[in-house]
Amino acid sequence: MRGRLAGRRALVTGGASGIGAACCSLMAAEGAEVVAVDLPESRAAGEAVCARIVDEGGTASFVAADVRRPGAVAEIVADGAADAVVTSAGVSHHPDQSDLGDLLDLSVEAWRFVLDVNLTGTFLTCVEAARAMIDAGRPGTIVTVASVAARIPTAGVYSVSKAAVAMLTRSLALQVAPFGIRVNSVGPGYVATAMLEGVAQVRGSKGTDGWLGIWEERVPLGRLGTPEDVARVVLFLSSEESDYLTGSVLYPDGGYLLRGGTR
Ligand SMILES: NC(=O)c1ccc[n+]([C@@H]2O[C@H](COP(=O)([O-])OP(=O)(O)OC[C@H]3O[C@@H](n4cnc5c(N)ncnc54)[C@H](O)[C@@H]3O)[C@@H](O)[C@H]2O)c1
Repeated sequence: MRGRLAGRRALVTGGASGIGAACCSLMAAEGAEVVAVDLPESRAAGEAVCARIVDEGGTASFVAADVRRPGAVAEIVADGAADAVVTSAGVSHHPDQSDLGDLLDLSVEAWRFVLDVNLTGTFLTCVEAARAMIDAGRPGTIVTVASVAARIPTAGVYSVSKAAVAMLTRSLALQVAPFGIRVNSVGPGYVATAMLEGVAQVRGSKGTDGWLGIWEERVPLGRLGTPEDVARVVLFLSSEESDYLTGSVLYPDGGYLLRGGTR
C-alpha cells in the first residue's frame, strides 16, 4: 500500500466500470477510503470492484445512485465529506441513436439523455460535493472526466456535453478556489472500455475489433489507452503533486489531439 492519498476519502462516480473502476483501485492503493458510486443495475460490478480492493488491503464500499438525481451525492457525503472526488459516470449515446455524430436528426430525448448524465450529473456531483467540503471545512480536489471529444466536433451531442464539462470545470474552479478546493479535468482519448466497445457496435459494419484497430491506428503512440493510463492522471490531479493546478484539462490521449484528432 502506497500513501499519496492517505487519510483522504475518495468518491468516484461511474466506479463500477472502466475508467471509474481503475480510479477506485488506484486511489485505494494510494491510501484513500473509496466510495464507488454507480447505477443500481451496476451493483454487482461495483461490489466486485470494492471486494478486489478490500482483498488487496484497501478500503472501499459501493453505493447505488443515479447522478442525474439532485441530492444523490449530497446524501452520500452527508455523514462525512469526500475530499477527492472523481466524476467518471457517463454515457456515449442514447440507446436509440444510430449515428453518434448526427445532430440534424437527433431526437430531443437522445439530446436530453446524454446531457442529463454527462453534464447535469457532473454538475450535481461537483456542487454537492463542493458544498459538503465547504461545510466541513475540509477542502479537497474534484476531477471531472471530459474527453478529446470536447475539442473535436465529431461525436454530436457527446462532444457538446464534454465541451460543457470542460467549461463547468473552469467555472467551478474559479468559484471555489477561495475555499482551497481545486477542480481539474481529465480528457481521455480512445480508452478500451465497455463504452468504447458500445460505440464500435453502433458504428457497425467493421465489427468491434475492426473499429478498435482503426482507432488504434489514429493514435500517434500506437495503442489505445487503458483505464489505468487515465487513472494515473486522475491520481496526479487528486494529489498534493498538483497543488498549484486548478481549472486545467489534461489529455491522456497518446497524442491523438496532435493531429487535431484526425489522421
Ligand atoms: N472510453 C473512452 O474511450 C473514453 C474517452 C473519453 C472520455 N471517456 C469518459 O470516461 C468516463 C468513463 O467512461 P468509461 O469508458 O469508463 O465507460 P464505462 O461505460 O465503462 O463506465 C461508465 C460508468 O458510468 C455509469 N453510469 C452511467 N450513467 C450513470 C448515472 N446516471 N449515474 C451513475 N452512474 C452512471 C455506468 O453504469 C458505468 O459503470 C465517461 O464520462 C466517458 O464519457 C471515455
